Amino acid sequence: MRTQQLAVTAFACLLGSTTAISLAGSRRDGSAPRVVQHDIQRRHVADPIQHDRNRQRTKKRDTVEVELDNEQTLYFMDISIGTPPQDFRMHIDTGSSDLWVNVDDSRLCEMRSDPCDASGTYSANSSDTYHYLNSDFNISYVDGSGSYGDYAEETVRFGGITLKNQQFGIGYVSGVMQGIIGIGYPVNEVAVTYGYDPYPNIPANLLEHDHINTNAYSLWLNDLDASQGSILFGGVNTEKYTGSLQSVPIIPVYHDIYAEFTIALTALGANGENGALIDNVAIGALLDSGSSLMYLPNDITQSVYNAVGAQYDSSSGAAFVPCSLADEPGTLDFTFSAPTIRVPLNELVLPAYTQDNEPVCIFGILPAGSSTPVLGDTFLRSAYVVYDMSNNEISLAQTRFNSTEDDIQEITQGSNGVPDATQVQSAVTSVAQVSDGARIEGGVGSFGGSSSSSDNAAQATAAPGYNLALLGAAGMMIAAF
Ligand SMILES: *[C@@H]1O[C@H](CO)[C@@H](O)[C@H](O)[C@H]1NC(C)=O
Ligand SMILES: *[C@@H]1O[C@H](CO)[C@@H](O)[C@H](O)[C@H]1NC(C)=O
Ligand SMILES: *[C@@H]1O[C@H](CO)[C@@H](O)[C@H](O)[C@H]1NC(C)=O
Repeated sequence: MRTQQLAVTAFACLLGSTTAISLAGSRRDGSAPRVVQHDIQRRHVADPIQHDRNRQRTKKRDTVEVELDNEQTLYFMDISIGTPPQDFRMHIDTGSSDLWVNVDDSRLCEMRSDPCDASGTYSANSSDTYHYLNSDFNISYVDGSGSYGDYAEETVRFGGITLKNQQFGIGYVSGVMQGIIGIGYPVNEVAVTYGYDPYPNIPANLLEHDHINTNAYSLWLNDLDASQGSILFGGVNTEKYTGSLQSVPIIPVYHDIYAEFTIALTALGANGENGALIDNVAIGALLDSGSSLMYLPNDITQSVYNAVGAQYDSSSGAAFVPCSLADEPGTLDFTFSAPTIRVPLNELVLPAYTQDNEPVCIFGILPAGSSTPVLGDTFLRSAYVVYDMSNNEISLAQTRFNSTEDDIQEITQGSNGVPDATQVQSAVTSVAQVSDGARIEGGVGSFGGSSSSSDNAAQATAAPGYNLALLGAAGMMIAAF
């Protein structure tokens, strides 16, 4: 089993109930907008660093995005599968593309502690709408754990809608306690590496069945201290952000193959001064709701640590800050060609454990080493993000924490379909090559103040390119078509 490096304290163990929200109509004819909204809940993460480390290892080596986690989940939503309905609490993951669930008699789920209970387990024999497809479902992890079994079709319900014949995975052999709802590009599905055509995953199937107009959704995670956010398929809730949305292109993994939500981070500033820490760069960064933390190039991470007084501890792989940093008024400001998202310092200070009755806090940014930079939940909470797979664009605005108002507008077809969004002119579309140097993990002294740490960092260059792992992935996908 995986080792725990940080002791556990609750971040916020808030398991609220889920309700589908009734929507205020915003179509001209007065009918309800064609959107599907669902609350999402936040749950504590026992050890965000270990959680992310496992994910990243797999991401770096495998061609298929897999979700690695057990109970250390952050954002999840309730769905039901089958007839009569069986209930699940699923981890929402923009970094993978399959929906899959556990069964109750796998070795893992049979353990006395009932590790799979919180998320739910599926019984094909108890459902009238189960339909077997094949036995090529296999999500695997580099550390040897994983989940495999069958692909099947079922009736899936959430947010007040019913999707019939939704393809999903069943983990008859599983090392992962939590069911996942992967909402990325279909080309990233496990099935594709097994030579199948991409199938309509949840967002694509919502489109196919006219529940939404276009393959796009918005994710509002809300404040670190809040228990609920929401996911809105096919729409934008203009009350959940300030200013207006700005759209930047998603960076393809290879030529015109779009497989992941990577966009170009072009500057990093502080306290309202854009670019104060680093400017005129082009760093490909993955928007990943399944990552708890952010991972930035080593040299940039070091300048952030210098700015906030964080101490990187190579033995635990964590960066420590005084918990009082959360009371400081500053922000870190992330620019993507034009839109800038200001992340308040208190969103970056995570209580980790208690030592001698004093709380110990870790910082929400870690060095990426040679792997792809990731903007995980410590970034995403401060942004309202529209993931538009139909147009291969991301629209961003500064989130409005704790907003209780709703103004839901549907996303329409076409290149300007995201309401209240403008396309950024001359947005950066090519990103730096990520060097394939040694990784930081495991606590070698390659990070922590020496200027040579930048040897391993992603360097901003004018050359277009992508990291080798992703090019490998693209090769696999081309082969599969
Ligand atoms: C369903 O039940 C049959 C007969 O009782 C059994 O052989 C089969 O393994 C069960 N299938 C699953 C998926 O549990
Ligand atoms: C699943 O995939 C992993 C990694 O590719 C492989 O080692 C394993 O044998 C596969 N399992 C099955 C049942 O196909
Ligand atoms: C949002 O609500 C939570 C929970 O009530 C509260 O702790 C937090 O301070 C609020 N955040 C803001 C920015 O007002």
